[in-house]
Amino acid sequence: MTDRTGIFAGDDPFAIARAWLAEAEQSEPNDPNAIALSTVDADGMPNARMVLLKEIEDGAFVFYTNYGSAKAREIEGAGKAAFVMHWKSLRRQIRVRGTVTREDGPLADAYFASRSLKSRLGAWASHQSRPLSSRAALMAEVAKVTALHGTAPKRPPFWGGFRIVPVEIEFWADGAFRLHDRFRWTRRDRETAWEIARLSP
Ligand SMILES: Cc1cc2nc3c(=O)[nH]c(=O)nc-3n(C[C@H](O)[C@H](O)[C@H](O)COP(=O)(O)O)c2cc1C
Repeated sequence: MTDRTGIFAGDDPFAIARAWLAEAEQSEPNDPNAIALSTVDADGMPNARMVLLKEIEDGAFVFYTNYGSAKAREIEGAGKAAFVMHWKSLRRQIRVRGTVTREDGPLADAYFASRSLKSRLGAWASHQSRPLSSRAALMAEVAKVTALHGTAPKRPPFWGGFRIVPVEIEFWADGAFRLHDRFRWTRRDRETAWEIARLSP
């Protein structure tokens, strides 16, 4: 991999992802950690929505959501998900595909506790992805959970993280005349070494 230099240098894809995100934090107008998360339902019908990437660990990516949501049902049905993050300001993307498990332990508790009180109560109040009769009904639910949980709500049992353990990560950077640079890391599972390949644009 002698020609993998500059922003693609190094063999650890999680270190590269962290470095690219740190750059994007300097140049994006908002939500540099937004990812388009893709899942499939029981019929194989694809689905996608934005979520916020909260951790880039050594070996995995973590985001948080409602375990009763459509995305959670689809993730837990398939055991797999994919995401892409794209930064217009950098003209780069990172694509990830992998297996998914819940993160509903101390890390999820700590992240939930770090959120604003209104966001924590909002998590209690929202039956994410289910039909809602009106905005007023949602606000009534917020008032109900506020009375119930006060100023120190615990993490709801139906809310927590998912950890995506990639089998594939691709780093893409815009090049002149559409001659982009692409490098793909692949591995069978977490125990196996990565293989790295340059791909045609
Ligand atoms: C920039 C952005 C960030 C978002 N971050 C999250 C998030 O971290 N977790 C989440 O559950 N929903 C997040 N949402 C809302 C989701 O896109 C989506 O509406 C919601 O999770 C329900 O999706 P589902 O019905 O497919 O489960 C975000 C939306 C946007 C536009």
